[in-house]
Amino acid sequence: MVDTLGLGVGITLTLIMIVFHFSKGTGWQPREDISDEVLEHRAATVPETAFPEPMNRSIGGGAAGVGAAVTGETEAEGELEEGEEAVGGDDPSAIPDDEAEVYEVEFVKQGKTIDVKENTTLLEAGEGEGWDLPYACREGQCISCGGHITNGHAEEYVEHHTNQMLGEAELSDGYTLTCVAYPTADLSLETGESP
Ligand code: FES
Repeated sequence: MVDTLGLGVGITLTLIMIVFHFSKGTGWQPREDISDEVLEHRAATVPETAFPEPMNRSIGGGAAGVGAAVTGETEAEGELEEGEEAVGGDDPSAIPDDEAEVYEVEFVKQGKTIDVKENTTLLEAGEGEGWDLPYACREGQCISCGGHITNGHAEEYVEHHTNQMLGEAELSDGYTLTCVAYPTADLSLETGESP
């Protein structure tokens, strides 16, 4: 049999103890918010930059600025004045077929003289005849396609577009890089010859 009076007294005393305990508080105090202080310190120590902050880029602000700058440069570079030639405009291969001069080129070893347009290299012209002529880079950077113009100084008969191998001595002896040599006069050529 439960003693109702005793149980009531016990519960009451327990409640009184709980209330008394928490009425004193735990003594915990929140720490002072120093985030503003940290930000001010960072602003004073980090040097200013000319480029956008990462946060700025993440919302598109920086990208817009950079994009505008790039666009501005591109527009400025992309506009040619009237009559101004683009870079590489002296490339003989850019001469239209119907405007190109035609020269007679004798391929000595093949025993045949063919017509070659000034916008066609000696190598291309020979390949057009089905001849297996030597070459490697096709950019004037090796000597594999070398040939010999028997008439005299090579540059009186061809224009080299990007010759990076032959010096004045070789050119004056008549040597040419057929992969980048465009005819500017009638000539005789020995293929497979190099200095
Ligand atoms: S193939 Fe290399 S220079 Fe002509």
